[in-house]
Amino acid sequence: AMDSGVAKHPITNWERYHHELQARIGINQKLMNRVMSQAKQNPKTVIFAEADHYKILKAAQIVLDQGIATPILLGNRVRIAELMEEYKLDLQGVRIVDPLEEDAKCEKYAHMFYEKRKRKGVSLFDARRLMRYRNYFGCMMVETGEADALISGLTRDYSKTILPALQVIGVEEGVNKVAGMYIILSKKEPFFFADTTVNLNPTAEEMVDIIGLTARYVRFFDTDPRVAVLSYSNFGSSSGVIPAKTSEATRLAKLKYPDLLIDGEMQANTALNADLLREHYPFSELAKEGANTLIFPTLESGNIAYKLLQEMGHAEAIGPVLMGMRKPVHILQLGSSVREIVNMVAISVVDAQTSNGKL
Ligand code: ACO
Repeated sequence: AMDSGVAKHPITNWERYHHELQARIGINQKLMNRVMSQAKQNPKTVIFAEADHYKILKAAQIVLDQGIATPILLGNRVRIAELMEEYKLDLQGVRIVDPLEEDAKCEKYAHMFYEKRKRKGVSLFDARRLMRYRNYFGCMMVETGEADALISGLTRDYSKTILPALQVIGVEEGVNKVAGMYIILSKKEPFFFADTTVNLNPTAEEMVDIIGLTARYVRFFDTDPRVAVLSYSNFGSSSGVIPAKTSEATRLAKLKYPDLLIDGEMQANTALNADLLREHYPFSELAKEGANTLIFPTLESGNIAYKLLQEMGHAEAIGPVLMGMRKPVHILQLGSSVREIVNMVAISVVDAQTSNGKL
């Protein structure tokens, strides 16, 4: 009987798969199309700090061809030329900057950096040395307005790449902690995860900042945030450090952002399953629709969750969107695809248009 069932509907599964894929692409296109077309209206200069990498050059070519951004390539001139030749990339006219050739500029940047950091243990000697590194040099170009945004991180650890950005550019006014957001394009609707990349173990107060920042970015993507603060506990059902912290963060966030739809602490399935919420927790603000914005209690939970979804859930993940920087810097996840890089360039252009991190 099973065999005949399979024979009778040989393509059912495939059809369903195809349908789901189309739905997912539809959502994807809606969200990213808006970002792409907004980027094209006023393309900005974006520094690619790791231009001696094929994927970065390919992404630079795509954003150039599509009018999304004007790339500036940082890196070794000869190596970049070799790669362009090898992969038949046409980046004629694109500015290449090699920090090792830029003595005068390095000296100028070193003095600026020294002034900024001299009471943080940085000597002029240190500053001169650091400016030879592309992440410092590139951040200084953004800081001084020579470029509008920076993309880096494809080949290095996130923490090593974000530190120059924090030291050179820092946070926007009114923000205490920057945080990273991922957009998960599921077949149902886009979901927003934070903090997935920066703060190891935020306090309840720091989580409130992260919630405010995330809500602002979610609204930017034309979506009303419905925020769940996650734990392994539902509204006090378990005790422990994380339930206490996340329930406190929820309480404080409700006071600070009275117009925001937010609840917690709750488990991830509770957050996403409105039926479950209605049945067991009808008092919850999220009982109507469930959450689309998930705030994680620690970096390990947020980072692990999005990576699992990306690898196992067949969901496209866009990010990490670095939220709260004074100027747009976005740090890629190690080994990002060309498509992911292009998405992040478009987001940083829009970030720059919407004026300096105030996305
Ligand atoms: N927001 C804003 N500023 C910050 C933040 C933050 N979240 N964290 C640190 N800073 C500032 C500090 O205030 C300090 O400023 P100052 O030097 O002007 O006083 C500066 O950054 C450096 O701070 P340190 O204390 O030296 O650095 P710290 O040890 O806090 O490191 C870092 C900061 C690198 C962000 C660290 O928290 C970290 O490693 N986070 C995890 C990054 C990571 O590994 N993510 C997972 C992988 S990412 C992925 O999968 C894509």
